Amino acid sequence: MATTFEHALSTEGTKLERSVLRELLRFTVDPEIISLAGGLPASERLPLEGLRTCLNAVLTRDGSRALQYSPQHVPLRARIAELMESRGVACTPEQVFITNGNQQGLTILSRLFLDPGAPAVIEEVTFTGIQQVTLGRGAEVRTVPTDLVTGVDVDAVEEAFRREPRPRLLVLVTDFHNPLGVSIAAESRERLARLAAEHRVPLVEDDPYGPLRFAGDPRPPIKAYDDEGMVFYLGSFSKMLAPGLRLGWMVAPEELMPRITTLRESIDLESSTLVQRAVAEFLGQGRLEGHLAALRETHGARCATMLRSLEEHLTGGAQWSRPEGGVFVWVELRPGLDATELFRSAIAKKVAYVPGGFFSVHGATRNAMRLNFSNVTPEAIREGVARVAEVVREG
Ligand SMILES: Cc1ncc(COP(=O)(O)O)c(C=O)c1O
Repeated sequence: MATTFEHALSTEGTKLERSVLRELLRFTVDPEIISLAGGLPASERLPLEGLRTCLNAVLTRDGSRALQYSPQHVPLRARIAELMESRGVACTPEQVFITNGNQQGLTILSRLFLDPGAPAVIEEVTFTGIQQVTLGRGAEVRTVPTDLVTGVDVDAVEEAFRREPRPRLLVLVTDFHNPLGVSIAAESRERLARLAAEHRVPLVEDDPYGPLRFAGDPRPPIKAYDDEGMVFYLGSFSKMLAPGLRLGWMVAPEELMPRITTLRESIDLESSTLVQRAVAEFLGQGRLEGHLAALRETHGARCATMLRSLEEHLTGGAQWSRPEGGVFVWVELRPGLDATELFRSAIAKKVAYVPGGFFSVHGATRNAMRLNFSNVTPEAIREGVARVAEVVREG
């Protein structure tokens, strides 16, 4: 797009691409279209009443302190440390840094470790926000493949680490990958932590979906195996509570906190005091487990409906991931089909998905699509998948 500011824009300002996912969000507001394109938790399950109670409690108890600038809320850091402990990660509140969500955590860490032109390792198919903070910042990106059953190819990670110059960063989505729905195999996690330590490559573990497991055995995060402080864990309240809170956290070595704090201050000063306190109250009142149980149940049932609908309607060489949590199913159509080209017909039939090509660094996976099951009713899932199958048959 030519603008009168062409001469004035920075490289990042020019090159950074808008996330197609944000563009597609507009389809979620057209009531005519069944949107399987989103990535939101079930709207019916957002903890409206719980948060209302907690906001009131905080405003009544803390008064104007809840509305002032303030340092990171210590009780929230302590609650998060407990949460991490329950997932097998030993950390102190001082190692917890509050963010405005995982995208901000990714931004801070990429700015902390990555100079433009420096090598970074990411998955060939990955969340667009991870591409933005690596490729988008001018990194020399080395990509590694991801298996739909076992997750990232750890041999390929090791090979990428061995190549000179040594990468400055590895970014992985541990559980219920966006967009692939897969989780990294239990036995790979320890090896990944060991590789990061051996090669001294900071491993950013982006894990907004970990607490959203509705089937199978829980697996500790990679951070649980990190003896050397080379794994930077990113957790988020976006999917487990509400995206609109814009609240998340990072677990990082205490010695880096001053640098992380300064970098964050250059982006925005702090997370909302009110929201931090309300979420600390929510956790303190013991509301999280019940909320998560209800959310997992809804998501699990919707995922099962989607998998059944795919079996029923999508015949002819398609295959898909079978997630045990999270919010996405990844569907690979027969080779030769292009889900981006089919998208127009899908919209004509009033159904939306995210074409798979958008998640691929090198533009592969054009024959794939990402489907969301969490924020769609079972009836809409059945109808939506039937429409997608029709588009694919006609394609
Ligand atoms: C893998 C992944 N990382 C990070 C984010 C950003 O999450 P947050 O809302 O916590 O910024 C998302 C959101 O969809 C995601 O899927």
